[in-house]
Amino acid sequence: MRRAATALAACSSALSLAACGAIGGDGEGGSNASSKRRDDITVGLLLPDRDTARFEKFDHPIITKEVTSLTHGKGRVLYANAEASVDKQSEQFQRMIDDKVDVILVDAVDARLIAPDVQKSKDAGIPVIAYDRLAQGPIDAYVSHDNELVGQVQGRAITEALGTKASSSKVVMMNGDPADPNTAQFKQGALGELEGKVDIVKQYDTDKWSPAAAEANMKEAIRSVGLDRIAAVYAANDGIAGAVIDALKEAGTGRIPPVTGQDANLDAVQRIVAGEQRMTVYKPFLDEATYAAQMAVTKVQGRDIAFDALTRDRVDSPTHQNVPALLVPVVSLTKDTIKKTVIADGVYTVRQICTAAHAAGCAAVGLK
Ligand code: GAL
Repeated sequence: MRRAATALAACSSALSLAACGAIGGDGEGGSNASSKRRDDITVGLLLPDRDTARFEKFDHPIITKEVTSLTHGKGRVLYANAEASVDKQSEQFQRMIDDKVDVILVDAVDARLIAPDVQKSKDAGIPVIAYDRLAQGPIDAYVSHDNELVGQVQGRAITEALGTKASSSKVVMMNGDPADPNTAQFKQGALGELEGKVDIVKQYDTDKWSPAAAEANMKEAIRSVGLDRIAAVYAANDGIAGAVIDALKEAGTGRIPPVTGQDANLDAVQRIVAGEQRMTVYKPFLDEATYAAQMAVTKVQGRDIAFDALTRDRVDSPTHQNVPALLVPVVSLTKDTIKKTVIADGVYTVRQICTAAHAAGCAAVGLK
């Protein structure tokens, strides 16, 4: 009795599902079910753009690797990147339906406009799992992070950096793409930390998360607020942060104010080492992508117990309520936490971060 209870407690965390045999093992239905299980499955993967490094560099390869491993090398991933185009993503979605893939994982360019495609897929009997962004329409599940927490972590980094000067400090907010539902959550989380504590002088949206659009917005902010008056910049992700820092340098800043970020891009980690970017939010891609693959495979294989164990959270989209979900935790990455985040997780090696140009910065933060 007692042993059973202990095992159950240990299995209650999503992270221990594999160890508990719910995933990849024969835990469900015994060996009989396992021998009947289909491994020759096709997972359709639709990612939104190439401007953000994570999609090509991590999400796609990790999902492919995990699908291959869960299906004993027999399953495959059909991949398409929308390059920030709503129309292109819709065509890619349709092609996957026509190709009769077994399940679709989609990170929507536009979470609202994708709803008819989700419906078509559903009508064709193909389940859809929303990846990272909560697509509207009848999705079967959602895997992401607590995106409001991402914004809180970013906002708190600014108030901490400004310290006692916060209330008199002018802050520029460079938000993400309004078509991405995460943007509103990042913003809400950040505003919860910033409003009433700092002076938010300007706010911009960044169409399609485009760094070029962010740079143009930042130039405008510098012109209207004044270079030396900007005390901090809330940048919603690392692509935006890089563009903001370039614009500040080009305008001739003597001291780069605290700038936030998100995604732990390699160049952002290097800017953090160099003291140019204050922080980024590290969202463990390995976990999010691995869980997505597990959700897709268990769904197709009809392994309901394993699928339900993975999706114990519930979220509401504007069109559907109580969507089964899995939300992976996030963590702030600063110069003090590089080692225990991206290096410990094997995302980057010290060598990749500490190139010749960053040798001094790396020595200063103890990276060797
Ligand atoms: C968000 C995502 C971020 C970042 C951004 C840019 O939806 O959560 O990790 O990649 O899109 O495309």
